[in-house]
This record gives sequence, structure tokens and C-alpha cells, in this order.
Amino acid sequence: MSNPIFVLNGPNLNLLGTREPHIYGSTRLAEVEQMCHDRARALGHVVSFRQSNYEGQIVEWIHEAIDGADGIVINPAALTHTSVAILDALKNVKCPIIELHISNPHQREAFRHVSYVTPVATAMMCGFGVTGYPLAVEAMAGLIKARRPA
Ligand code: DQA
Repeated sequence: MSNPIFVLNGPNLNLLGTREPHIYGSTRLAEVEQMCHDRARALGHVVSFRQSNYEGQIVEWIHEAIDGADGIVINPAALTHTSVAILDALKNVKCPIIELHISNPHQREAFRHVSYVTPVATAMMCGFGVTGYPLAVEAMAGLIKARRPA
């Protein structure tokens, strides 16, 4: 039986659409969520799309994913650059992990060049704007398929 793909979003991403639109664009998170559901459905998957401003909540969702998700797409937002707790939580996950960023953090301030998540991610995508979300869902469907016995 297949589990959903978790799409997890960290702090301030609830403000997408109005937050620094010159960097993150003007599309709201609810629209991004719909893009993910649509792409997942077309590929025979289900997405569980979540956002929290709280590190501990994201850690708990990662724990839930240990038995409850076929893949994790995670935009940890600012926690990317600070959170050993998210790194340690992700170490317990057996499913593929895609680290996703709307912007390209490597073109930005030096503190954004460090990610605690990349070392445990299967893959990393950044700089595609919000269209990175459905792209990541599609890429995750491919990673899940590649793991299934023929
Ligand atoms: C972000 C990049 C992070 O550096 C930043 O703190 C965010 C969003 C992105 O999607 O581009 O909140 O993860």
C-alpha cells in the first residue's frame, strides 16, 4: 500500500505571495499546494502538504514520515541554515528526501550557503521559483518508482 508524499514547509512560507515578492514571487502557498496536488494526482500519488513556523512541529512531521510517507519534499526555509534537530530527524527516514528552495540560496547571503539538510537529502532543487514544487513532486515520483521492485 502506498503512502503520501509529504511536502513540508518551514517558517514564514505561510506568507508566500506577500513576503519579499522580488525573491519568492507573488504566488500564495495555497496555490502552490494546489499545484502539488494536481501534479501528484496526474502521477498516481497523493501529497500531504504542510507548513509550520515551529521547528519542533517539523521534527514531529518527519517522525510521522518514518512509517507514513513514501517520500519527503522539504523546504525547511530559514531552518535549513540552523537546524541540527531537523538534520537528526531526517537521519531516521528511509524514504527519499528532496530539499527544495524557491530561491537559489547560493546566490544570496553567505549564511544561506550552509545547509544542514543537504548531507542527508537524496537530491536538492533550488532557484526554480514556486514551479520547483510540482517539479519536486514529479522528481519524487520518479525516485519512488525507481525503488519499487519491477
Ligand atoms: C528559502 C531560502 C531560505 O534561505 C530562506 O530562509 C527561506 C526560503 C527558499 O525557499 O528559497 O525562508 O528556503
